[in-house]
Amino acid sequence: MPEHEFLRTLELFDQHHILDHYRSLSFHQRQAFLGSNGALDFHLAFQLYHKFCESNSGAIDPATVSPPDVIPIPKDSGQNADELAARSQGESLLRGQKAAVLIVAGGQGSRLGFDGPKGTFPLSPVAGKTLFQLLAEQVRALSNRYSATIPLMIMTSSDNHKDTIDFFKQKKFFGLEPQNVHFFSQGVLPAISPQGNLILKDKVHLYTSPNGHGGSLKALSDSGLLSKMIEAGYEELFYCQVDNPLVKIADPVFLGHHRRARSQVSTKVVRRRNIKEKVGVYLKLEGKDAIAEYSDLDEKYMSALDEKGNILYWAGNTAIHIFSLSFIKELNKDGFALPYHCAKKSAYVISSDWEPASIDLWKFETFVFDAMPFARRTCCMEIKREDEFAPVKNKEGDDSPDTAREAMSALYRNWLITAGIDIPEGSTLEISPLYALGPQDISARTGRLVIPAEQEIYLE
Ligand code: UD1
Repeated sequence: MPEHEFLRTLELFDQHHILDHYRSLSFHQRQAFLGSNGALDFHLAFQLYHKFCESNSGAIDPATVSPPDVIPIPKDSGQNADELAARSQGESLLRGQKAAVLIVAGGQGSRLGFDGPKGTFPLSPVAGKTLFQLLAEQVRALSNRYSATIPLMIMTSSDNHKDTIDFFKQKKFFGLEPQNVHFFSQGVLPAISPQGNLILKDKVHLYTSPNGHGGSLKALSDSGLLSKMIEAGYEELFYCQVDNPLVKIADPVFLGHHRRARSQVSTKVVRRRNIKEKVGVYLKLEGKDAIAEYSDLDEKYMSALDEKGNILYWAGNTAIHIFSLSFIKELNKDGFALPYHCAKKSAYVISSDWEPASIDLWKFETFVFDAMPFARRTCCMEIKREDEFAPVKNKEGDDSPDTAREAMSALYRNWLITAGIDIPEGSTLEISPLYALGPQDISARTGRLVIPAEQEIYLE
C-alpha cells in the first residue's frame, strides 16, 4: 500500500497514536513500518472489532442442537462389508492421484512450552522422531504403496514459515521429492485493544495474529496452490493438525466413505473421554452437521447424558477432515465465506514507554470446521481413540508428549500382538511408517520378523 493510502487508512480508523508514532520514526524506520504493516487488512479488522463490540457471538443457541448421524466402527458383517468397499474406493483414489494432504502447522508450541514450530518437536518413543517426520514418512510410505504422487502441503504462519522450510531442507524432506512438498503461510490480521486501538508490538511492527486454521482454506486459494492441484487432477484434500502423531494420513477407508457419501467435508470423531474434555463437539445445529467448540457450547449440552447415562453429544472432533477441492474453491468464490471468531486475550507487547507490558487485546480467527454448514453434503465417521488420536497439546498431564508416547507404544504393541508376535513385557515400541502403516503390514512380514528381548524396540 502506498504511504499516503496507509496514512489515510489509519486516519479513517482514528489511529492517531500510530500516526504520531509513525511520524516520530526515521526515514528507514518508516520504510520498515510500511513494509511490515502496509498489506494488513485494517478494514476487515475494524469491521470485526465493531461486530464483536455489539455482540460476543460465538455462543451456540441451545434450542437448535441434536445428535448427528455417524458411520460406526464396524461391529457386524454388513458394516465390515461397507468398510471394505470404502477402502477399495479410497485406494483407487490414491492410486489415481486424486488425493493430496494438508497439515496445518501455523501455531507455535506455546502451551507445550516448546520454542519452535510444533512440528519440529521430537516425540516418538524410541527413535525420537519429530512430528513432521512421523507425518512426512507416512506420506512417503503411501506414495510408495500406491505408486502415486501424493502432494504434501504444509501451512505455516509468518512466525514459523522460514524455520519450517529450513527444517525440511535440513532433513532432506524426509525422503520426499522436494517438488511434491509445498509450504504456504496463513494470513494475519491486526489485533485490536478493547478500546479500539491498534497495538505496537515494537517500533516497526503492529501486533498481528494468525487468522486461525480456517485461514488454510483461504491461503490455499490465494497462494495459487488450490488451482494448481485442481489442474493436476487432484480432487480431495486430506486435512490434519500437526499435533497428532497417530493420525492415519490419507486413510483410504475415510477417503472411500467421503466419496460414497458424495460429501464435501468429512470428519473423524472419537468418543469424548468425559464431559470436561477440551474437544470440539460434532452435532447437528438446525438440522445441519456442525462442530461447536467446547467453549462455545452451553454447559447443559456439553454435560448432557442419554437414558443409559452415556454422554449424549459424544462425538469429539479430532480435527481430521477431508475437503473436496471443488468445495474449497466454492468457499473462496465471492470473498472468503468462513465467519470469524474473536479471542479476547492478554499478551506482552511494548508499551508507550517502550517497556514490555501485558495488555488486553482482541484477536480474530476462523475455524476450519465452520466450513461444514456451507456444504451440501457431509460425512462423519467414528474412530477408535487408541488407534488414531493422541494429540500433543500440553507440557504435562492429559494430551502431553508422555501420553502421546504411551499411546504410540501401546498401538504398535497391539499391531504386533494382532500379527501373532510375542513382545517382551514392559518394553517400549516404535514402528516406522516406512516399515508398516498398520497390523496387516506386519502380518505380511512375519516370516522375517524377529523381536529382540530389549527394553526399547524400533522396527524400521
Ligand atoms: C482443536 C479444535 C478442537 C479439536 C482439537 C483436536 C479448534 C478451535 N479446536 O483444538 O475442536 O477437538 O483441536 O485436537 O480448532 N493452527 C494453525 N493456525 C492457527 C491456529 C491453529 O495452523 O491460526 C493449527 C495449530 O498449529 C494446531 C491446530 O491448528 O496444529 C490446533 O489449533 P489449536 O488452536 O491449538 O486448537 P485446539 O485447542 O488444539
